[in-house]
Amino acid sequence: MSKPRAFISRRIPQPAIDIVAAACDYGIWDDLMAAPRDLFLREAAQSDGVLVMPSERIDDEFLNAAPRVKIVANMAVGYDNIDVPALTARGVLATNTPDVLTETTADVAWALLMAAARRLVEGQRVMEAGQWGAWHPFYMLGQDVYGATIGIVGAGRIGTAVARRARAFNMRVLYHNRKRAPQLEVALQAEYRPFDDLLRESDFVVMTAPLTDETRGMFGAREFALMKETAVFVNVARGGVVKEAELVEALKRGRPWAAGLDVFEVEPTPKDNPLFALPNFVGTPHIGSATLRTRTAMATLAAQNLVNALTGRPPLTPVNPEVLASFRGDSA
Ligand code: GLV
Repeated sequence: MSKPRAFISRRIPQPAIDIVAAACDYGIWDDLMAAPRDLFLREAAQSDGVLVMPSERIDDEFLNAAPRVKIVANMAVGYDNIDVPALTARGVLATNTPDVLTETTADVAWALLMAAARRLVEGQRVMEAGQWGAWHPFYMLGQDVYGATIGIVGAGRIGTAVARRARAFNMRVLYHNRKRAPQLEVALQAEYRPFDDLLRESDFVVMTAPLTDETRGMFGAREFALMKETAVFVNVARGGVVKEAELVEALKRGRPWAAGLDVFEVEPTPKDNPLFALPNFVGTPHIGSATLRTRTAMATLAAQNLVNALTGRPPLTPVNPEVLASFRGDSA
């Protein structure tokens, strides 16, 4: 029985490659940067499954080019790069990497929240520029985090992990989801709020919901105007949920008071992004899950999903499990 063929679209931690190598013939784009699209499509065309990054668009063009592919294993929890309905319609599985990056990503949300609230980056810049003025009672005042009210938009796994950190800071936790989350209300005394009420009542608004048709552009001028003048806005979801130009204007006007972003409308964001000129902005270059341990866990989960699907076993974290009913994973 010949082995299934897989393609890995980027250099990933070795333990994940070992998992694929044990079960598949495989090709890999062994580089830190993304493969050219035409090369990726050519490789996919000869493969039964692919392990991809969020930079790979998995759409009709991909599906037409790669008719053998039965599984697309995304090495990310977010899968807005994948046209899931198109895959489902053709009986192709998609998988993602939830859970393993939850705490690491919540840490970055918390770091941005703290940095924006207490002006950590601005403080460093001021010192580096030799502009540390004399101490006075109103110098570099920030916003209190301890005991404040946090509003989490999209209280799924990562949002819940942020809420747990908030409880340790004695914060009142509000959340907005499509559906109520009774377990969150019981475990963390979180209170559900309609979206606009959450924006009005929160000292910190943290966005952790995935990018979907519903959440695209969810934060714009109207939403920022509803926030408190002292509010801090944090986004660790996807850049597309924020109308970035409107955030720039809102930050200039001082409502919200500050923002911390790990994700941007365009990534890598250009160095002339007007956000960088604003003292009340803190940013990180999409590093939510960027620790070696977490990236290894993500890669091995993606590899296991790929191998399972190609050897007739159910993948661990399918995005479209309905495909499994009609799925023939064994490519041999
Ligand atoms: C990263 O942004 C992810 O979705 O895992």
